[in-house]
Amino acid sequence: MTDHSNPLRDPQDRRLPRIAGPCVLVIFGVTGDLSTKKLMPAVYDLANRGLLPPGFALVGFARRDWAHQDFAKIVHDAVSEHARTPFREEVWAQLLEGIRFVSGEIGDDEAMGRLKETIADLDEARGTGGNHAFYLSIPPKLFETVVTQLRQHGLAESANGTWNRVVIEKPFGHDLDSARELNRVVSQVFPPESVFRIDHYLGKETVQNLMALRFANQLFEPVWNNRYVDQVQITMAEDIGIGGRAGYYDGIGAARDVIQNHLLQLLAHTAMEEPTSFDARQLQAEKRKVLEAAQPPKQMDLHTARGRYTSGWTGGQHCGAYLDEDGIPADSTTETYAAIRVDIDNRRWAGVPFYLRTGKRMARRVTEVALGFKRAPHLPFTSTDTEDLGYNALVMRIQPDEGVTMRFGAKVPGSQMEIREVNMDFAYGGSFTESSPEAYERLILDVLLGDPPLFPQHEEVELSWKILDPILDHWAESDARSRKSTMDEYKPGTWGPTSADEMLARDGFTWRRP
Ligand code: BG6
Repeated sequence: MTDHSNPLRDPQDRRLPRIAGPCVLVIFGVTGDLSTKKLMPAVYDLANRGLLPPGFALVGFARRDWAHQDFAKIVHDAVSEHARTPFREEVWAQLLEGIRFVSGEIGDDEAMGRLKETIADLDEARGTGGNHAFYLSIPPKLFETVVTQLRQHGLAESANGTWNRVVIEKPFGHDLDSARELNRVVSQVFPPESVFRIDHYLGKETVQNLMALRFANQLFEPVWNNRYVDQVQITMAEDIGIGGRAGYYDGIGAARDVIQNHLLQLLAHTAMEEPTSFDARQLQAEKRKVLEAAQPPKQMDLHTARGRYTSGWTGGQHCGAYLDEDGIPADSTTETYAAIRVDIDNRRWAGVPFYLRTGKRMARRVTEVALGFKRAPHLPFTSTDTEDLGYNALVMRIQPDEGVTMRFGAKVPGSQMEIREVNMDFAYGGSFTESSPEAYERLILDVLLGDPPLFPQHEEVELSWKILDPILDHWAESDARSRKSTMDEYKPGTWGPTSADEMLARDGFTWRRP
């Protein structure tokens, strides 16, 4: 906590630990996968790092007929299995005292009444100060019911120095119209400063490092433009399939699940101008500007690709096709791979294509942003000297193997002048001893602190849908025109459908194979 009493301490010093004030975190949908694997462990990790105050409580809300102890056992198991930091009895004992469960259906007014009483008891008994964050880890169709009930029960206003905040998980709508509708519903109840939209990529250290790399150094910014950069590739590849998430994934697909949020946010961080400060308003203004300049492909057939994985072998294991996954209808038209080209109509980026791709069951798990540079305008070597010289590249490795790679040509030792590509690497693991917090630790802490820079605003969500909607319409129209799915296929363990390779080849590029 900032110590204002010490004149030697600068209240702006962001290196000081930021500790949440007294509050209750309520998770709706607490029995879901996200809550078990990410949210509950992140709460424990924050407690373990000393970033939660003694006046903290965690309330789970779900249909199960559980007592407080049953829920506490669920939290304990989730923490033991998934927390990042070691389990410590004394931390757990402290957390346990503030763990409560409320059983009820979403929409049941009595259950919401019980939640209100539970929270009021905690405010009284644990000194949680009348501050509450409501995390909606539930399907978006239930948002309206929950936020309306929160208002009816007086749990939406922030009055007399206390606060009530709502946290919503993606997907923020299914298209532009539904995103607007969702925003209308939420903003009728909560003012903008109390709404926290989670895009967990923004909580990743390596995504924030994109800003550090660009704006804390003199080295990179001069070449960060269309005079030097030829193309940008933003990749989020996963080697896993859809797991047990058929209900969520089918009808959503790769473009809505990942490009609309994570990849367009990565594009915004890569392409935006320098914000005046990292204050939320300044940062969001720059992201908004660049998303406004970002255009969907002009030639949809040429500059988009989509595919669905078939059955096959990967990592020594046989896996079934997407259409054979449990719960996927035989006539599904959902893509598990999507690639698009985005052009940015501004002075810095005109003429530089940004290629965005994502897929399930790909060759390996990797997320990266790669800037490919133009060739040197003149090479004072013979063509055989530079036979093995590729293009210079700067690669921000978001995960795993977090770091930055610079690729350039170097002389091969020997009496000839032979140039070959080499890599220069910065690896987080090699330079820092502290391990990176999980994205959800950072984001939950920011919600509790009311610190908004890492949360997308509604305008950014709208702008992202404006880029994606025409692509999704185009794919739906091509299916309708040919009266069958025009989806391409790809084998598990590969880098996606050949149509994606052709898409880049037409522009004279090839996809990186990280
Ligand atoms: C989620 C998507 O937002 O991100 C999932 O819904 C995806 O489909 C996940 O698997 C990947 O997150 P991470 O942090 O493992 O890259």
